Amino acid sequence: MKPEMNKDIPVLLLAWYDAHARVLPWRKKNDPYRIWVSEIMLQQTRAETVLPYYEKFIGELPDIRALAAAPEERVFKLWQGLGYYRRARNMQLAAKIVAETLGGILPSTAEELKKLPGIGEYTAGAIASIAFNRRTSAVDGNVLRIVARLYGIADSIEDRTVASQIRDIVTGLLPDTRVGDFNQALMDLGATVCLPNGEPLCKECPLAEFCEAHNRNLISVLPKRSDRPQRPRQDHTVLILECQGRFALQKRPENVLLASLWQFPMLQGASDFGGCKKALPFLTDDAVLSVAPIPSHRHIFSHLQWDLAGYFIRLKEIPCDAPYIWAAAEDIRKNYSVPSAFKPYMKIITGE
Ligand code: ADE
Repeated sequence: MKPEMNKDIPVLLLAWYDAHARVLPWRKKNDPYRIWVSEIMLQQTRAETVLPYYEKFIGELPDIRALAAAPEERVFKLWQGLGYYRRARNMQLAAKIVAETLGGILPSTAEELKKLPGIGEYTAGAIASIAFNRRTSAVDGNVLRIVARLYGIADSIEDRTVASQIRDIVTGLLPDTRVGDFNQALMDLGATVCLPNGEPLCKECPLAEFCEAHNRNLISVLPKRSDRPQRPRQDHTVLILECQGRFALQKRPENVLLASLWQFPMLQGASDFGGCKKALPFLTDDAVLSVAPIPSHRHIFSHLQWDLAGYFIRLKEIPCDAPYIWAAAEDIRKNYSVPSAFKPYMKIITGE
């Protein structure tokens, strides 16, 4: 490690950022609300994916009070496709707290921001530094990777102690001014140069001369991660029930995965049609006009895998004893938040 390294890194990084910063809409104007929304959307999600969602969200809910007052259904609908819906729920909860108890003004320090639902160490640091120029780090997976490579840290970056050491290193690198730009420069470096999978573009890296992984040919082994246990797998049977041009939807309970979102009726486990009839007594021979299998679909969550398959069932009449709402495909597409796990089945009903 070169002695001048810690002094040079922020200078080189900021100069690189001045020349290469990505043009992103939340960087156009220094509005804490917009920065907050962007940081929540960017959790676990790449900037290119976030862009259209961000524009639509801000267009419709331009400030904290608008978010606090919006119907939850609408917030979920704007979030549909981004996944990790708890982010949206927590952000709205936080907006209500800010609107009702803080006069609609987002706190400016990481400590205060962290007290709000959905704002953890990283997001608090990002908002405080970018929106309020507070001297605080924002260390996410990208920054862990960059620093592990730069300093040749061979221990797993998923280890809490290692992550905390890396946070201390980054805090030591923070410049006196332009802290938000410094943090965003690290984010951009991680997204465009110090890439996670495959070959990082070391030739384009402003920090290559200092980088232990680059200089000692350790790029392919750093950062080290802990061995992950396999994701648990669950089978479910999805039923697309159609009656007179309308489809059955069911609201998922609160406090479960994809809480309060809408889904096609679903049975736990893989069932044949006989099993479906047993579970749903209204599926009598008399009531069912036709049955056809629908394609199987695997949906991978961060911690879980769903294997879905099931049936498209046409019914003669809407069963009065079934706990569903019935809506036309266009109405569902426009007004109900059906999570991406069911995307292929949404395509079947909307024909898109
Ligand atoms: N990822 C997380 N926060 C970001 C930001 N402000 N700009 C670009 N990418 C990010």
